[in-house]
Amino acid sequence: MDSFGRTVDYLRISITDRCNERCLYCLPENYHDWLPRGSVLAYDEFLAVVRAATQLGFKRFRVTGGEPLIRPGVVEFIRDLVAMPGVESVLLTTNGTRLPELAAPLFAAGLRRVNISLDALDPAIYRAITQGEVGPVLAGIRRVKELGFESVKLNTVLMRGRNDGEIFRLLDFAAEHDIVIRFIELMPVSLTEMLSEKNFYPVTELYHRLQQEDELEPLPDAFGFGPAKYYRLKQRRVTVGLIGALSDLHFCERCNKMRLTCDGKLRPCLGNHLETDLIPALRPRINPAALAALFRQTLTVKPAEHLFRDNYQPHRVMTAIGG
Ligand code: 5AD
Ligand code: SF4
Repeated sequence: MDSFGRTVDYLRISITDRCNERCLYCLPENYHDWLPRGSVLAYDEFLAVVRAATQLGFKRFRVTGGEPLIRPGVVEFIRDLVAMPGVESVLLTTNGTRLPELAAPLFAAGLRRVNISLDALDPAIYRAITQGEVGPVLAGIRRVKELGFESVKLNTVLMRGRNDGEIFRLLDFAAEHDIVIRFIELMPVSLTEMLSEKNFYPVTELYHRLQQEDELEPLPDAFGFGPAKYYRLKQRRVTVGLIGALSDLHFCERCNKMRLTCDGKLRPCLGNHLETDLIPALRPRINPAALAALFRQTLTVKPAEHLFRDNYQPHRVMTAIGG
């Protein structure tokens, strides 16, 4: 479906707001206001929303969280999603911690595309950012490469003074494993203290740094699925994506997605408080016609651009929206 000349055919689905890590930019310290389990959608409710979305021309579905791989039954859910008519592509975003054991079952379930968060290679820096251990994540990355996933990408959220010293090590790691790496600017999407000017590292600054250190060849927009701008670093032989929600003034022009929160709210834009509650079309029983109507109506209010440059105040943690 179209919105401001953009084709919107991509839905991100958060299947849980919970996580086994606690990234500085995502969850406030001592956060424990998890949604009650009963308010999180059941898998068949997510599948009903997906069915409505495919009828409106949605083709790509990303499973995310919180950390999606900590929710029991996720492998079977992905198998059902892959098998659903009209679903052309199923993608997963994960922190990678459970990939050592789940990569093979996920591959067997038909998953072929995975994005893995990796904010640092150095164990101490990784721990300082996520409160977790980098070892299992690296083992998980090796595992997905061995299994032959079609698309493996790394996501690194850039933070000045935290992981800006890791950039070139991460690029070398990505080159060595033949993986695309994307650097993401901090966005004011969560309720944490970290999202301040002082920690902000614009991707425009990274672009200039890469230009000094390497030779950048811009790749066509069609290379990715979303708002990243991709470049090939000719000397390092690695493809890098820059995601600059704030510094890239054309960012929203490439936006092709909507988000479904784990408690059944459809959000047409990450940087806007608009959301449609789908629960009345899901409970007490699933009503496909009502779902399709709510979906269509939400698309008509998809904003032309986000409000991040407008002193945007988040009111949910990122994990409750879908990272
Ligand atoms: N700013 C930018 N990206 C974020 N993510 C989560 N919180 C933020 C934030 N405040 C993204 C990261 C992470 C994914 C799950 O969500 O890319 O890898
Ligand atoms: Fe967990 Fe991802 Fe949030 Fe980090 S960014 S705390 S891994 S949900």
